[in-house]
Amino acid sequence: MKPIYITDEEKEQAKLWAQDSRWVEHKSYYEDAEYMECVHDIMDSPIFQSMDNFIQHGNTTCKAHCIKVSYMSYCICRRLGWDYRETARGALLHDFFLYDWHTHARETGNHFHGYTHPRTALNNAVKHFTLTEKEKDMILRHMWPLTPVPPKTREGMAIVYADKFCSLAETMGRVKRWVLYSFGVKGTV
Ligand SMILES: [Fe+2]
Ligand SMILES: [Fe+2]
Repeated sequence: MKPIYITDEEKEQAKLWAQDSRWVEHKSYYEDAEYMECVHDIMDSPIFQSMDNFIQHGNTTCKAHCIKVSYMSYCICRRLGWDYRETARGALLHDFFLYDWHTHARETGNHFHGYTHPRTALNNAVKHFTLTEKEKDMILRHMWPLTPVPPKTREGMAIVYADKFCSLAETMGRVKRWVLYSFGVKGTV
């Protein structure tokens, strides 16, 4: 398997991109026709759009987070010559659990969202979309190594990487904006 290698400069650019949801708010992904060709049925569905009602990390919604992870995994796989279509689709639905996880434990008594949400996301995804076995595995195994079984495919591993990268950047972006706000830098938070 080819290593997922990006230069330090690319990593820095990717971090800034992942911290900032404006790329998603401006729907810039529509400019990439090849990407949209892979995901338009999911992207344009009201149920997918409803993920905008739930916050994932910092002030990033579940929808914005899933689009970022999908686009980053798609770019990685395209560059490495891997299957980018299923990757873009699996990643777009990887957190399709459809609830606010911040209040979920209080409301349902389920304190194990981190472990259980991949299965919930998969159950929801198969209810609304037609998925390949590979896409199903990508959704179910994306939390590895928190959940013990790794994805079966290298594309699934690309999603694991992009998910961790974006989650960290989104959380750090929030912290950074709070620090700047505390020091009175306008236009933050
Ligand atoms: Fe997740
Ligand atoms: Fe995620």
